[in-house]
Amino acid sequence: MQPMQPMQPMQPMQPAYPWPYPRIVAHRGGGTLAPENTLAALRCALQYGFSAVEFDVMCAADGVPVLMHDAQLGRTVAAVGMRSALISDYPAHELQQMDAGKWLAPQFAGEAVPLFSQAIDFCTAHQLWMNIEIKPTPGSDIATGRSVASTLQACLKTHALAASANQLAPLFSSFSFAALEAAKQTVPEIARGLLVDRIPADWQAQLDFLDAVTLHTNHEHLSPSMARAIKQAGFGLFCYTVNDSARAREILSWGVDGFCTDQLDIIGANFS
Ligand code: G3P
Ligand code: MG
Repeated sequence: MQPMQPMQPMQPMQPAYPWPYPRIVAHRGGGTLAPENTLAALRCALQYGFSAVEFDVMCAADGVPVLMHDAQLGRTVAAVGMRSALISDYPAHELQQMDAGKWLAPQFAGEAVPLFSQAIDFCTAHQLWMNIEIKPTPGSDIATGRSVASTLQACLKTHALAASANQLAPLFSSFSFAALEAAKQTVPEIARGLLVDRIPADWQAQLDFLDAVTLHTNHEHLSPSMARAIKQAGFGLFCYTVNDSARAREILSWGVDGFCTDQLDIIGANFS
C-alpha cells in the first residue's frame, strides 16, 4: 500500500478577469498593410474595421514621446546621411521631419514619425482603443514611463476622456518593469499589462507589484496549463503576435482573452 501523500494547499480561485477590451488588436497600427507606428497605420486599422490598436512609444532626445519601435534608425526610417543612428539623439521636431513610410512602399512616402499626442488625438476621435506599448531606449526606462504617462494624462484631460461613457480607457503595456512602475506612479488610474517573451516563474509577484491587470506574452511560448494558471489567478491574458487563424483559435480555446495581429486582412477584427 502506498503511503498517503500530504495534501497540497489549494490555491484559492480568483474571480475571472472581465476582459473589457476588444479581443483582436491591430499590431503596430496596421500590421503589415501600412508602415508601422504611423498615422497611416491607424487609418488602415479603421479601414479594416478594427476598434483596437497596439503601438510602440519611445522618447525623443527632448523627452517628447513619439511612435517608434526601434531605438536606431535604419529599418523603418533611413539612416543614410543622418548625423546619428540613435533615436534618442534627435528631438521630436526633427523626428517628425523623417520619412517613416517609404521603406514599406512608395505610396507611403512622406508619412511622418508621429508624436504620441497625435496618435492619442486620432484614436480618441475615432474611438480606437489603445494598447500603448512603452518602449524605452536603453537606460531611459523610468523617464520614458513618466513621460508617456504624463503625456497621456494631459491629452485625456484635453479630450475629457475620463468623463466619456463610451470610450474605453487605454492600457499601458511594456517589457520594462521599471517603465510600468513609473507609469503607475505617474498615472495610477490607467491600467497596466506586463509584457514578457517567456513567462517567468515569479509572474504573479511581478503583476501584483505593478497592480497590473493583464499579462501579455509571446504565444509561441504559452502552454494551456500556463494560460489556465494565469486566468485562474484572475488576470487578463493577451498574446502577441498571432498571424495564423488556426493558432489564433487554439490559444483562444485555452482561455486567452485577446491578441494582436499583423494580418488585418486575413484574421480580421471580428475573428472567432
Ligand atoms: O505589444 C505586443 C508586441 O508589440 C510586442 O513586441 O516587438 O512587436 O513591440 P513588438
Ligand atoms: Mg509593440
